[in-house]
Amino acid sequence: MAVRLAHFSDLHLSARPLGWAVRDVFGKRATGWVNLTFLGRAARFRHAPTVAAALRRDLAGRGFDHLVFSGDATMMGFASETAAAAAALGVGDPAVPPGTAVPGNHDVYVARAERGRVFEAAFAAWQAGERVGGEPYPFARKVGHLWLIAVNSSRSVPWPWDASGRVGEAQLGRLRELTARLDPGPRVVVTHYPILTANRKPEPHFRRLRDWDRVRDVAAECGVGLWLHGHRHGWYVLPAGPDLPFPCVCAGSSTQTRRWGYHEYVIDGWKLAGLRRVYDPEAGAFADADRFALELAGNGA
Ligand SMILES: [Fe+2]
Ligand SMILES: [Fe+2]
Repeated sequence: MAVRLAHFSDLHLSARPLGWAVRDVFGKRATGWVNLTFLGRAARFRHAPTVAAALRRDLAGRGFDHLVFSGDATMMGFASETAAAAAALGVGDPAVPPGTAVPGNHDVYVARAERGRVFEAAFAAWQAGERVGGEPYPFARKVGHLWLIAVNSSRSVPWPWDASGRVGEAQLGRLRELTARLDPGPRVVVTHYPILTANRKPEPHFRRLRDWDRVRDVAAECGVGLWLHGHRHGWYVLPAGPDLPFPCVCAGSSTQTRRWGYHEYVIDGWKLAGLRRVYDPEAGAFADADRFALELAGNGA
């Protein structure tokens, strides 16, 4: 039986009021707010609430078995923004299929959001799965013949210019332990950060997954067959190659003006048929666009 997934990312929704605290005014969120308000981010995401509403109609109405969200629900990880984003997507709504979600760097924008597990609380219904010990990540969820494995590659950093990520050795250790006890079947990682950009290079230092090469090698040892991610706001597909033991798909931003889109995947055995659906502002709805095909790695492993 084929499994039908929706993959969307980088919604960057905001909320009013945000819920500023005094320490935010002197912290990273102040810089983020300037960036948001004066340097164009808000303009690029001006239509995000309308596009997110159209996305939710598709998520509820197109017969998906499961939803995959690869992070950056918010602009600055405020609890108000995170709760509003989860509500906009229909997290926990019985009319919307079940999902698996990981935070993006904007969802853990400051240490308080990360430590307080603000994202995990708002997206609790999309955080169900098998875990190692009491740690939130990674977790694995069986969907049809697939294992979806949620890996957290986002962490808070104090510097406004630093948008880098890291998985870290402790989580990689748990990934080994978790994957060792899963039954056979394709293993699909869901995470925020790419391993390589569309040019098959690591991202610039202050945007990249810092331990990208180590993560790639451990994921290959764990039998990962596909890497689903966001963070880059333009979408792309990388087939496996000498530098990448498994294919990777970046959904891009689902709500950024003129980049808006999401992916449908039908995975039959080890074959994936991908369809990109792009937002049409005239129609106020998503419509079919590009198609692509991939073979998942690890068949017969
Ligand atoms: Fe983003
Ligand atoms: Fe990001």
